[in-house]
Amino acid sequence: MEPIILGIESSCDDTSAAVIRGRVMLSNVIASQQVHKDFGGVVPELASRAHELNIVPVVSEALSKAGVKASELSAIAFTRGPGLLGSLLVGTSFAKALSLSLDVPMVMVNHLQGHVLACFIQEEGVPVREPSFPYLCLLVSGGNSQIVRVNGPLSFDILGQTIDDAVGEAFDKCSKMLGLGYPGGPVIDKLAAQGDPLRFKFAKPHIPGLDYSFSGVKTSLLYFVRDALKEDPAFLENNKEDLCASFQKTLIDILLDKLIKAAKQTGIRQIAIGGGVSANSGLRARILSEGARRGWQTWLPPLKFTTDNAAMIAVAGYFHFLAGSRAPLDVAPLSRA
Ligand code: KG4
Repeated sequence: MEPIILGIESSCDDTSAAVIRGRVMLSNVIASQQVHKDFGGVVPELASRAHELNIVPVVSEALSKAGVKASELSAIAFTRGPGLLGSLLVGTSFAKALSLSLDVPMVMVNHLQGHVLACFIQEEGVPVREPSFPYLCLLVSGGNSQIVRVNGPLSFDILGQTIDDAVGEAFDKCSKMLGLGYPGGPVIDKLAAQGDPLRFKFAKPHIPGLDYSFSGVKTSLLYFVRDALKEDPAFLENNKEDLCASFQKTLIDILLDKLIKAAKQTGIRQIAIGGGVSANSGLRARILSEGARRGWQTWLPPLKFTTDNAAMIAVAGYFHFLAGSRAPLDVAPLSRA
């Protein structure tokens, strides 16, 4: 019989619970916290309080949407980290209490592995299409930018990663500079679609190997906007589409340069993307066009699995569960990877 697994995700500002049977998703409920919008970023204390309020209704809804009784669960998979400590504590403590009361095992999951394995979530009525191992995953979010070689469901090598800001941070900070609000990625993505990506040029980093850097390009935008505003106070208002398109193109160029290099170096032509920034329409289009040109097979997660969600945690938990790993009751969350 296929195991039934409840996944719990609470690493940042989304409280999510999902139920899977085997790897087939039966439910995936996400409560996104709106309380941070006025602060231009996630406020950790507010996030943990909101998780406390959300966790019981979200888990109940996930079970009832799946048509599964708590007593039928084979295991509870939860995000141990990385993330905000207070947020992680809520999900971890809830998983422990539920595991004790139901007498079912707990499985701990690394949040980043969840994003990397999101292409293994199966949906009823959707044809199964999965990469075989090894594949490369470009993991791009608000906290990470990595190229991961996925050797198997539980075997990963990080081939390259950012040495400073994550690409999502670059999107968010650019948006703040241009007065476009938080989170910046979706706004920039939308405005970029109406702008000229070749109009402005921003400095690209020269980092050896497969590592990334995004702090320089952000500073380049800052100085460019500062100088342009001296000449024309209405510059931002009149050029925001072109600015977003050009900045977004620069970030995508940086991401793709190293991804192409990694594919060449490893000889791997199966390429997946994951994490919040993998929702970016420019990045998705570019992965597809480069893939077609270079003979890659590509996996783009459906948009609902790009942001934080418990379905990916449940699926990663499924692989750990099958491998026999169980979390002890005294397990503590880890804020860093
Ligand atoms: O994976 P995620 O939900 O949270 C973590 O960082 O773990 O990623 C959030 C990041 C934010 O920086 C947000 O601006 C970015 O993903 N993002 C996007 C888009 N949607 C979300 N960036 C670019 N284009 C998008 N459409």
